[in-house]
Amino acid sequence: MKVLVIGGAGYIGSHAVYELIRDNNEVIVMDNLSTGKENMIHKSAKFYLGDITKKEDLDKVFDSEKNIDVVMHFAAKLIVPESVKMPLEYYYNNVEGVRLMLDAMIRYGVKNVVFSSTAAVYGEPIKPICEEDDITLPINPYGASKLATENMIKWVCNAYNMNYCIFRYFNVAGADKSLDIGLDKDNLTHLIPIVTQTILGIRNKMKVFGDDYDTPDGTCIRDYIHVTDLALAHILGAKYILNNNKSILVNLGSNNGYSVKEVIDAASIYGKVNYEIVERREGDPAKLIASNSKAKDLLGWIPKYTLDDMIKTDLEFRRKINNK
Ligand code: UFG
Repeated sequence: MKVLVIGGAGYIGSHAVYELIRDNNEVIVMDNLSTGKENMIHKSAKFYLGDITKKEDLDKVFDSEKNIDVVMHFAAKLIVPESVKMPLEYYYNNVEGVRLMLDAMIRYGVKNVVFSSTAAVYGEPIKPICEEDDITLPINPYGASKLATENMIKWVCNAYNMNYCIFRYFNVAGADKSLDIGLDKDNLTHLIPIVTQTILGIRNKMKVFGDDYDTPDGTCIRDYIHVTDLALAHILGAKYILNNNKSILVNLGSNNGYSVKEVIDAASIYGKVNYEIVERREGDPAKLIASNSKAKDLLGWIPKYTLDDMIKTDLEFRRKINNK
């Protein structure tokens, strides 16, 4: 496949690029390097500096690169609490950016799109495990912007005879086995990297946002997925829509969840995690777990990596970048 990866210098995008290259695909990366880093882009991928909210940047890539089979989109803003404070930035980047990307795909005749959506579209789920047909009622602007984009993609693919593969990610963590790429950002907000930073002494203490949720230990439960498992799903999803000329929407989770305290306990084998319980964080649902039977049935996708793999690879990656 010839694949254009938009956002291929970011955390998840760079892992997708690594797996696509390991799977012998031709990879083009477009990224504005707002949060992504150039050194995260695999050396075998061709790189274009560009922003999806700029039509001329998109046209430059599509003018130069003929016969793209699939566009994969990772160029989103994705921090839940930030989205609560800056909703318009989230709508602009996550919805308007994809509108322009789809417009370019239509003009240049590119027929297949793989889109990163999120478990946040389910909001506060009413069932213990989310299934793809469940009601979607996001409780934060991040989830709302992704749901709006999902719907836009569906209508556009319907109107222009295109195919989509929409993935709803749950909580992504970990780093590539090479340790060349991982989550390398300032001002981290995600749980696992904050836990590993605390183990490494980069933070003295971490905060647990609320222990009065309706869960067994009172802390929020999430479904954690290793970034390599997620990246591999993108290859399977792209091949599926290409070969079957069909659109799909699939959860990427593990059927299983861990509470914040359980994650801290699991990480404690690598070192002490000092923490304090503080107020709840705005926009956090109590529990989010994905059914992954659809991913298994349609794509044969089964997550291989465990919570320990996520903690261990993130810890090793963080140790490596910290010692540079
Ligand atoms: N948490 C803490 N302390 C921290 C950081 C996080 O207690 O320092 C808690 C949060 O309150 C939450 C849980 O750990 O209960 C997980 O929080 P993250 O920030 O790691 O992840 P979120 O669940 O908020 O969101 C992530 C992605 C979204 C995605 C969602 C889907 O950022 O893009 O998972 O489940 F939509």
